[in-house]
Amino acid sequence: MAAKVFEWIDERLGLIGIYNTVLDRNVPKVNWWFTLGSASLFLFVMQAVTGIFLAVYYVPSPDHAYDSIQYIMNGVAFGWLIRGIHHWGATFMVIVVFVHMLRTFFFAAYKFPREVTWLTGVVLLLSTLGMGFTGYLLPWNQRAYWATTVGTEIAGTVPFIGDFILRVLRGGNDLSAVTLARFFAVHIWFLPAIIAAMIGVHMYLVIRLGISAVPKEED
Ligand code: HEM
Repeated sequence: MAAKVFEWIDERLGLIGIYNTVLDRNVPKVNWWFTLGSASLFLFVMQAVTGIFLAVYYVPSPDHAYDSIQYIMNGVAFGWLIRGIHHWGATFMVIVVFVHMLRTFFFAAYKFPREVTWLTGVVLLLSTLGMGFTGYLLPWNQRAYWATTVGTEIAGTVPFIGDFILRVLRGGNDLSAVTLARFFAVHIWFLPAIIAAMIGVHMYLVIRLGISAVPKEED
């Protein structure tokens, strides 16, 4: 009965075809360094899931942001755990994505025909760093406030357009409710959308091209 139901669904959705293309691929003999792309993917999904739960209680306004985080930590069941995973997952993701990039660089996996995989990777790395930068302000405590003051100040030192960048980042000359609102929007909408789209292209290329093998001495 179950087999018949599955067959009916598969005839219409082509699930076995998707399974064979996405999961049942031939891969060269590789080592643990080749697992870091999948680890990055796992961490992104984990950040997305815990972030969605945090968004249930977090309030992005100067009057309530700090208190809403205190409430998540002390009042919400397992709030401390969800926030802890999101907090440490962020640091971990930056490290893992960076080491994944180093792996593809040192194994020369960016060469033909994987140049576009590398380019989408560059966008992924910059967006991941952007997630860290924008997320850091959200707790709206002293450390967050001053770290963002310094961070935006540094962006403001870019020759010629520095002042413009600083005002775009802050939404004015100083850090304010506008800064918190735009960092929140960028953190939960703009960057996740860019990352999800780029992961889509990145994974399409990994499946289409297959992964590179460990170079041999004669290569
Ligand atoms: C959220 C960030 C990222 C995710 C989820 C991700 C995911 C993956 C996965 C699952 C693979 C296949 C398995 C592997 O080789 O590890 C892969 C391969 C690859 N990635 Fe990434 N990646 C990310 C960031 C980057 C970055 C920052 C770069 C470089 C700037 C990059 C460049 C590449 C290249 C060149 C390959 C092909 C490797 C090969 O064929 O040997 N990726 N990525």
